Amino acid sequence: MKIKNICCIGAGYVGGPTMAVIAQKCPEINVTVVDINEKRIAAWNDKDVENIPIYEPGLSKVVDEARGRNLFFSADVDKAIDQAEMIFISVNTPTKAYGMGKGMAADLKFIELCARQIARVSTSDKIVIEKSTLPVRTAEALKNILENTGNGVNYQILSNPEFLAEGTAVEDLMDPDRVLIGGDIDTEKGKEAVEALVNVYAHWVPKERILTTNVWSSELSKLTANAFLAQRVSSINAMSELCEKTGADVNEVAKAVGMDSRIGSKFLKSSVGFGGSCFQKDILNLVYIAKSFGLNEVADYWEQVIIMNDHQKRRFAANIVRTLFNTVAGKKIGFLGWAFKKDTNDTRESAAIYVADYLLNEQAEIVVYDPKVKEEQINADLDYLNTRSEKENRQRIKAVNDPYQVSKEAHAVAILTEWDEFKELDRKRIYDEMLKPAFLFDGRNILHQSSQKAIGFKTYIIGENC
Ligand code: NAD
Ligand code: UGA
Repeated sequence: MKIKNICCIGAGYVGGPTMAVIAQKCPEINVTVVDINEKRIAAWNDKDVENIPIYEPGLSKVVDEARGRNLFFSADVDKAIDQAEMIFISVNTPTKAYGMGKGMAADLKFIELCARQIARVSTSDKIVIEKSTLPVRTAEALKNILENTGNGVNYQILSNPEFLAEGTAVEDLMDPDRVLIGGDIDTEKGKEAVEALVNVYAHWVPKERILTTNVWSSELSKLTANAFLAQRVSSINAMSELCEKTGADVNEVAKAVGMDSRIGSKFLKSSVGFGGSCFQKDILNLVYIAKSFGLNEVADYWEQVIIMNDHQKRRFAANIVRTLFNTVAGKKIGFLGWAFKKDTNDTRESAAIYVADYLLNEQAEIVVYDPKVKEEQINADLDYLNTRSEKENRQRIKAVNDPYQVSKEAHAVAILTEWDEFKELDRKRIYDEMLKPAFLFDGRNILHQSSQKAIGFKTYIIGENC
């Protein structure tokens, strides 16, 4: 089957970059990314390509090349569905905030709305692709919705989870470790659909890296991959606390352990805790699924990854309070970084939010510098927690455009995101502008303790005995 038109529902962190790369690599296919959020679509269409709504290194260049040629962003969802032979569903699947499974299960209401809209609009056969991360067996529910409309349209449902990481999305999409496609390979039509999607990726991904499986394996592999990745971070973070007590250095431990080729060196960087929109939500979802099958030991095993991560964020914040003579009330604390990792403007579930919330409860005054995050986003992140009034949040936390304003008359500076530019800051200047003793808390393990001490800082580096 030759694909001429692709539609992607959801113009977010996954839909936008993924479709931009498909469009760039497949100039003969028209790719239309649609969203109900008209503001987001307008930003994707902004004349100045630097204003697209997602910051990812290299993304604006890819968008610039394909946009208007065979890459389109539109709020006309019906039209794009109608014209496409292949539809990616790339909408958000947050943790449910109400009802059954509240705080654990994935909220599938946006997915179901998409399925119902596809069912309502379609007049020709469609390949529908789960791009969003979904609980295992969601394809069954989609099939039920799509096939009970009685309009004679044939639907093939594929699972094609996305493994890109933010900050390296373009690189990951251009040169993926693997592309995973789950389909109904026992039927002719199912095989044809899988083949059609394989052919899209084969424009640039070597065939041996395109893996085809049954649908359930594909859905579950995505949750498994995120659980394993997050588990590594929680594992090294658990060791970071032990390092601080024993004089071991977590960087040295990570290096020694990672040199074992069976373990590998990646994803062993100790931190103030993992953030991002997916690790926590996907593990909670996995825990919920395991519990729903009565697999309580499996559920408890994975839940521990989250428990450890919450502990890591909390102990970092508590250590600031303890070190500052057990009170931060009325004290200025400078934050370097707010995004959940470097090279992204995404702040979802960022550790910085939880550390700030803890310190605000202790009545600290916080000043934040992040090269890509604006004050309105910081306010929105704190308001979302609902810990105090919006007014109080705005009185207590401010964002600045210059990293040196963060240290001016601050009692402490904390590094929450590992932006490269923080390594280049004039530390002597920061020290001079701070109140003394000048405390520095490095939640990203980017500083070398010895050079800080020489300047005069009282330093705490995660995973080091200071
Ligand atoms: P996002 O919130 O950035 O984008 C989702 C978009 O879908 C939003 O713009 C929203 O307006 C739109 N949307 C929701 N319902 C819609 C509807 N009915 N019709 C049209 N548009 C609709 O989310 P994201 O970060 O792109 O994540 C999307 C999915 O991909 C999630 O399941 C996530 O788990 C998964 N994922 C995310 C990443 C990542 O790095 N962010 C990586 C891999 C997988
Ligand atoms: C993660 C996965 O890496 C992707 O493969 C997956 O597609 C994606 O989730 C998803 O499903 O959303 P992402 O969350 O964008 O990607 O970024 P990561 O690089 O995985 O970092 C996640 C968090 O872990 C960040 O807060 C990061 O700072 C932290 N981290 C990561 C560490 O603290 N230490 C490490 O060694 C690695």
